[in-house]
Amino acid sequence: MTVNQEERLYPCSFVIFGATGHLATTKLLPALYHLEQAGRLPAVTNFIAYARREWDDATWLAHVEATLRGSLADKFDREIYGRFARRCSYVRGDLHDTEGYRRLLEEISKPKTGVCSNLVFYLAIKPSDFGTVAEQLAAVGLNRPRGLHRLVVEKPFGEDLESARVLNEVLHRHFDEHQIFRIDHYLGKETVQNLLVFRFANLMVEPLWNRNYIDHVQITVAECAGVETRAGYYDQVGALRDMLQNHLMQLLTLAAMEPPPALEADALRDEKVKVLRSIRPIPRRALHAHAFRAQYAAGNMGGRQVPGYQQEAGVEPDSVTETFVAAKLLIDNWRWRGVPFYLRTGKRLARQQSMIAIRFKHPPQQLFQETPLENMDPNWIVLRLQPAESMHLEIHARQPGLGLHTRMIQMNAGYRGDGERAIDAYEALLLDVIRGDATNFIRFDEVEWAWRVVDPVLKFWAQERDFIHTYPAGSWGPEEANRLFEWEYQAWRNDA
Ligand SMILES: NC(=O)c1ccc[n+]([C@@H]2O[C@H](COP(=O)([O-])OP(=O)(O)OC[C@H]3O[C@@H](n4cnc5c(N)ncnc54)[C@H](OP(=O)(O)O)[C@@H]3O)[C@@H](O)[C@H]2O)c1
Repeated sequence: MTVNQEERLYPCSFVIFGATGHLATTKLLPALYHLEQAGRLPAVTNFIAYARREWDDATWLAHVEATLRGSLADKFDREIYGRFARRCSYVRGDLHDTEGYRRLLEEISKPKTGVCSNLVFYLAIKPSDFGTVAEQLAAVGLNRPRGLHRLVVEKPFGEDLESARVLNEVLHRHFDEHQIFRIDHYLGKETVQNLLVFRFANLMVEPLWNRNYIDHVQITVAECAGVETRAGYYDQVGALRDMLQNHLMQLLTLAAMEPPPALEADALRDEKVKVLRSIRPIPRRALHAHAFRAQYAAGNMGGRQVPGYQQEAGVEPDSVTETFVAAKLLIDNWRWRGVPFYLRTGKRLARQQSMIAIRFKHPPQQLFQETPLENMDPNWIVLRLQPAESMHLEIHARQPGLGLHTRMIQMNAGYRGDGERAIDAYEALLLDVIRGDATNFIRFDEVEWAWRVVDPVLKFWAQERDFIHTYPAGSWGPEEANRLFEWEYQAWRNDA
């Protein structure tokens, strides 16, 4: 965990499989450069690219420089780049080719800035290749010693409960659980990490954070983008697997968990698992009351006409893959029984916005019953995760003037002070990997319990292939998503 933890620098050789791909180019290289810029890399740190193109160190470095110049624009700094580039080397190899792994072994034994026993293997490749790489690394002995060698795997981890278990079994043949770092970049976001500080470092929050005071919780991750270039992947996966099973469920666990006894990886993850295990299974007969899916149709995004999902390049014209999903989850424990958690995510929605919104109950006192205040709005706490992270509290105050009228005051707190740089989630997470801190990574039982929650929905939808609701691009999703609410007064909150 980054909070209150002693900062130590660990020498490390960091190997990127899939170094020429989209993730490595857009996220990993800029994040590693920023760690260099922040002085967080020890002198002995090597970045080894493993890829199949017929390149050598010089071609790789030309690619790295062009990538960084492109993403950093005028923030690109020659001197920092010079320091960064001295750590970089390239190993040519196919993921399935044992000879490539021998060359990798050789490079690891004489890397650019010095040998180190702390090895990270980052799998920025398709999940179906994770098992092959684990096996090939083991074949050349790169999975040992088990304490120091780590495997970082990207989402999605499986496509349902069964496939996640199979994948896990394959990885566990060669790597122990504590060596496997399953990444969910939402856990590296500063405001997500701030959620724990907000809940557990502020005495006034904790007493209210339960079923006695909270009416319901909404977690929204809204995207403006459509499927863009990812149709080949997305059309097979959909919003439930791509977003809700991982990012939104992780936000739910952090919002709902009990305080862990210590800020240690396993203590924190134990509490998250308890939340997931307490989620009431969704029975088949009540599925429509708990889960809703839809797909974007053509519409207008900020004055621009955009095509519907089925018209996007690479999407099957009769696809019923959901681009919008909403779910109601009930957590049957002492803290949350009876408090619905509404989760919602979608593409081509009206605004790019992620937030956790907590709606409080009405005060029990009927003091204002005969006054104009009878229908007072409830209090809310809204934690905005993006854009522009902030926290705001909505409370009533008397409106100045004659008569008893109130107005809702919004107490806004920007999260970042002037001049404080936003840290990309990958930057924080890569530093954690280098230090071997697994707090912000997902343990397999978390993955497994999250799949258990969504599996019945996936199975049900897999059989209902002839119809899907639609919503115009640029809207907040279909009206029909309101059917999930327990009570008539509940409604989606769209502003953060
Ligand atoms: N892109 C994102 O923003 C994003 C976000 C979240 C999670 N992820 C996850 O991250 C992983 C990578 O995604 P991506 O978007 O970066 O994919 P990508 O752009 O398709 O990149 C895949 C990489 O794997 C390499 N590769 C494929 N087959 C290979 C082989 N047989 N031997 C050697 N290298 C091989 C490709 O090399 P070539 O360049 O030579 O083809 C490329 O570098 C996936 O698990 C994805 O689900 C990605």
